[in-house]
Amino acid sequence: MNVSDCKIIDLPKIQDPRGNLTFIEGNSHVPFDIQRVYYLYDVPGGAERGGHAHKGLSQLIIAMSGSFDVVLDDGTKKRRFHLNRSYQGLYVCPMIWRELDNFSSGSVCMVLASNNYDEADYFRDYDQYMEAVSK
Ligand code: TYD
Repeated sequence: MNVSDCKIIDLPKIQDPRGNLTFIEGNSHVPFDIQRVYYLYDVPGGAERGGHAHKGLSQLIIAMSGSFDVVLDDGTKKRRFHLNRSYQGLYVCPMIWRELDNFSSGSVCMVLASNNYDEADYFRDYDQYMEAVSK
């Protein structure tokens, strides 16, 4: 798995003068079953989130409001994505180190995940992550 397996997914957008609507179905618009949703909000200016990789978890990261950057790193290649559309999501496959920064004020980062929370699924130490991906 590497950063080229990660990509922006354009989600369905039902345009309407009353307001737009986007929907996401597991195994259809995202390549996994959605087991968990979490979101970051009230992020103070200059804060950084992430700083870890997941062993088996797949995720879709969406800027529901405002904007932020996601830096993906597979141990060889790094790519920075700027997310600012609520009808687009960044698909992040397993074994990718990620950092989130550059949050605009009032931004909301929603994450759809393929599994429930499990601390054992995390690499939180970059050296340990590098050791695992360089095998
Ligand atoms: P973490 O995944 O490190 O946050 P981020 O990647 O956004 O910086 O999680 C922060 C804390 O929240 C950590 O103590 C674990 C807890 N947490 C849960 O209990 N359940 C969850 O679904 C998530 C994502 C985090």
